Amino acid sequence: MTEKLYILYASQTGTAEDLAFEINDIAQSKNIVTDLKELDDISLEKFKEIKRVMVITSTTGEGDIPYNGELFFEKLFGIANINLSQMRYGVIALGDSSHYEFCKAGRDIDERLKYLGAICILDRLECDYDTKGSIEWLQNFSIY
Ligand SMILES: Cc1cc2nc3c(=O)[nH]c(=O)nc-3n(C[C@H](O)[C@H](O)[C@H](O)COP(=O)(O)O)c2cc1C
Repeated sequence: MTEKLYILYASQTGTAEDLAFEINDIAQSKNIVTDLKELDDISLEKFKEIKRVMVITSTTGEGDIPYNGELFFEKLFGIANINLSQMRYGVIALGDSSHYEFCKAGRDIDERLKYLGAICILDRLECDYDTKGSIEWLQNFSIY
C-alpha cells in the first residue's frame, strides 16, 4: 500500500492554503490517503516519522515564513541531530519575484530537509505570483 501523503502548508493570505486544499482534494480523488495540516500543527516528533510529505509554503515579510509555519520552522532549524532518511518529500514554494528574497521560506525548508537526509522526489516548484504548474507538479509527485 502507498504511504499516506502528508500535505503541510504555511500561508499568510490564503493562496498556499487554497492550493493545499485543492491538492488534497485531487489526491483524495486518486485514492491517495492524505493528512492535511498547517505546518505548525505538526510536532517534530510526528514529523520525524513521516514517510511521504509535500510542503506548500509562501514567503512573506522580507523572506519570512508565514505565521502558521513559524514554530515549525524554528524547530526544524533548531534541531541538529535528526535523521530524516526515511522521508520522501517535495516542496511547492509560493512567492513573487519582485521581492528580493524570492520564495525564500520554501527554498530554506527544501534545503534543510535535504540536509537532514530526506529524499527529494520531485524538484521544488517555485510559483511566481500565481500557482500555475502546481497541479501538473502534483501529478508527477504522486507517481512516486
Ligand atoms: C507583505 C508581503 C510580503 C511578501 N514578501 C515576499 C518575499 O519576501 N518573497 C517572495 O518571494 N514573495 C513575497 N510575497 C509574495 C507572496 O509570497 C505571494 O503573493 C504568495 O502567493 C502569497 O501566498 P499566501 O497567500 O499563501 O501567503 C510577499 C507578499 C506580501 C503581501
